[in-house]
Amino acid sequence: MLEHKSITIQPARNILGSLRVPGDKSISHRYAMLAAMAAGRSRFDNFAPGADCASTLGCVAALGCKVERDEKGGVVVEGLGSQLQPPSAPLDCGNSGSTMRMLSGILAGQPFASELIGDASLSRRPMKRIMEPLMQMGTEIQSTDDHAPLHIRGTKLRAIEYRPPVASAQVKTSVLFAGLLAEGTTTVDEPARTRDHGELALRAFGAEVERMHNAVSIQGGQKLAALEAFVPGDMSSAAFFLCAASVFPESNVVIDGVLLNPTRSALLDVLAAMGSRTSMLRVEESHGELVGTISLVPGQGRHVVIEGALTALLIDELPVLAAIAPFTDGGIEVRDAKELKVKESDRLSAVTRNLRAMGAQVEQTEDGWRIPGGQRLHGAEIESYDDHRIAMALAVAALKAEGASVIHKAECVAISYPEFFKDLEKLVER
Ligand code: S3P
Repeated sequence: MLEHKSITIQPARNILGSLRVPGDKSISHRYAMLAAMAAGRSRFDNFAPGADCASTLGCVAALGCKVERDEKGGVVVEGLGSQLQPPSAPLDCGNSGSTMRMLSGILAGQPFASELIGDASLSRRPMKRIMEPLMQMGTEIQSTDDHAPLHIRGTKLRAIEYRPPVASAQVKTSVLFAGLLAEGTTTVDEPARTRDHGELALRAFGAEVERMHNAVSIQGGQKLAALEAFVPGDMSSAAFFLCAASVFPESNVVIDGVLLNPTRSALLDVLAAMGSRTSMLRVEESHGELVGTISLVPGQGRHVVIEGALTALLIDELPVLAAIAPFTDGGIEVRDAKELKVKESDRLSAVTRNLRAMGAQVEQTEDGWRIPGGQRLHGAEIESYDDHRIAMALAVAALKAEGASVIHKAECVAISYPEFFKDLEKLVER
C-alpha cells in the first residue's frame, strides 16, 4: 500500500516540447501472459513500468515462470509452454482488471485450481463478463456475486462461439487465450470493435488468428514461440499531454515512439475534429503494431460528439477529453459510455464531481456527459478516487484553471505512469 500523497498543480501558460511515454500497458500484459505459455525465453524492451503490469509479472512468476529484469532494463520471461505450474498462494492482481480477466482465460485451461484476488477497487468490478464464456467452455468458477475473489478449477476446454454483451477487449482476449487451450475453433464476435492487441500479440507469438468483420477466431492446440519485442509507448498516457496541448493556443508537442494502432489512436481524429493539427511521422510496424511520432499544434472551434463505436475505441481517453471539454470552444458530448461506471472508479461521477468542484458546468447523463465549452474554471481540491486516470485527467484540467489545485491520493498514477507528474513538468511552461 502506497502512502497517500497530495500534489499541487499550478496553472500553466503553455505546453511545449517532446517526450517519450511509458510502454503500452495493454500490450505489456498480453506479452507477459503469452510469454509464460511460449516455449523458451522472451524479452521485452520498454515494458510498461506501472504497478498493473507488475501485478501480471507477479502472477506469471507465481505460475512457475522465471521473470527478471536484465542489465539493459528489459523484462525477461522464461516460458513453460501451455502448461503452467499450480500456484502455492492466491494470485494477486492488485488494481488490474486486465490481469484478472485475461489471466482467467489461461487459468481456465490449466489442469489445476487457482484463486485470483484483487484490491478493493478490483473486487468491486464485474467479473461475470468473463465467467460466463469461460464456464461455457467447461471450467468451473466460483465468485462472490460475480466479483473477486475468483476460484477457477481449470479443465480441458471446449471451443465456443461467443457474442459478448459488452464491447470489451479484456473479455475478447480472455476468451481467445482460453481458445488457444481449447479443443476446436473458438470465435468471439464483438458488438463493437475494441483494441486488437490480443489478436496481434497471439500472432507475434506465432499463433494463427483470423478476423471476419468483428469476429475473431482461434484454433486450439497451437504452440507459441518465444518473442523479443519493443513495447510501443502508451497512447492512453500520451493522451494527457496531447489533450493538455490542444487547449493552449501556443503549444507544440511531439511524442516519440508511441503506439499508433488504429484501434487506439482515435483520439488523434477527435482532436483533429476539434481543430488541432495532428501529424504522424516515421511510422513503422513492430510485430503487427504501428509505432511512430505524433506532433500536435492546437486549434479550436468545433463541438464534437463521441458515441457508439467511437466511444468503445476511446474508453480510456474519455476522462481526459471530458477534463479539457470546458476549455474548448465548442464543448464535448459523450454518449454510450456506461462502461466508465465500472472502471477503477465510477469515472463518469468522478469527473463530474471534480469538474464541478472547479466551478464547471457539467451535465452528467445516464451514459456520458454534456460539457459546454468556453468555460473558466478555478483551482480546487481534487479527489482521485484512487484512480490513476482520474488523477492525471484532472491534473490536465488544473493546468488551465485559475489558481492552484491539489490532487489528493495522487500516488495512484503509479498504476500506469509512475513518472507522470515529472514528465508533465517537463512540458509545462509557466
Ligand atoms: C483494456 C481494455 C479496456 C481498457 C483497459 C485495458 C485491455 O477495458 O479500459 O484499460 O488491455 O484490454 P475493457 O476491455 O473492459 O473495455
